Amino acid sequence: MRPIDLEALNDTFAITDHITFVAGPGDLTIAQIRNAFATATVSLYGAQVLAFQPHGHEPVLWGSAHNAYRPGKAVRAGIPVCWPWFGPHPSDSAKPAHGFARTSPWSVLSTAALAHGATQIRLRLADEDTDSALWPYAFELRLVVTVGADLKVELIARNPGRTAYTYSGALHSYFTVNDIAAISIQGLDGCTYVDQIDEGRHKIQHGPITFVSETDRIYLNTTEKCVIEDPGLDRRITIAKGGSHTTVVWNPWIEKSQRLADFGRDEYHGMVCVETANADGDSITVAPGGEHRLTAIIGVEPKI
Ligand code: BG6
Repeated sequence: MRPIDLEALNDTFAITDHITFVAGPGDLTIAQIRNAFATATVSLYGAQVLAFQPHGHEPVLWGSAHNAYRPGKAVRAGIPVCWPWFGPHPSDSAKPAHGFARTSPWSVLSTAALAHGATQIRLRLADEDTDSALWPYAFELRLVVTVGADLKVELIARNPGRTAYTYSGALHSYFTVNDIAAISIQGLDGCTYVDQIDEGRHKIQHGPITFVSETDRIYLNTTEKCVIEDPGLDRRITIAKGGSHTTVVWNPWIEKSQRLADFGRDEYHGMVCVETANADGDSITVAPGGEHRLTAIIGVEPKI
């Protein structure tokens, strides 16, 4: 990873009582945000929100204690940005799963203290920063993170080139839950989903989602807000979205998590992914000069 001059970054972008840049684990450069509403951390490696915690609440996002924090390795925490393909590459298994955005060093475009007290950071990644052998198109990505009482994450994919490109992806959010076996997820009742652990069969969701085994599903044709009901933490996490017609729900459960080097043996108990996605048939074509915006707004409220 290219060395980052922390002092220069702070000189240009730190804002008193809002945002400062520090060296994080594995020497990742981290934006630390603290304002009247919440604390959050955002890694420049991958433009990844690693943590979000409104004051008075438990952490909302989950992170594995077994991350290597090594260049080239994705960090299993918070909100990895999957782009420009979701899951395995459609035709070349040598290319990294979930694309290259989550393992690329992004740069800071701007920071701001907003009028109502929230803090914003804007990050950028473009074709000149990445290997054209992975993705041969001209592109510019911006990730805008706004930390207030809610966390808003917007991924804007622009096409500055002369050729249209088509991509899939996700804001692959990991959430902290007290006990995966006790939570339920509302918002997808009646939706058709692709069951990724049953040979991609299409099935229909009946009622809220509950978890008794490995779960890896792409819910189709949905723009609905999802709610994670967590009785153990006495709270509901809400995930609203824009620019997305698919929602991915994932928990690796016991056997799969044991096959993942960066996943602790029992960690599956304490997490669930609800991903704001453009996956399966929901891929996006961006014409020259055009852009697409994928948005997730994450909130937490006490149980009703
Ligand atoms: C989910 C996929 O989005 O991400 C799963 O649906 C996958 O199939 C999971 O296992 C984690 O992927 P990775 O590449 O971060 O291990």
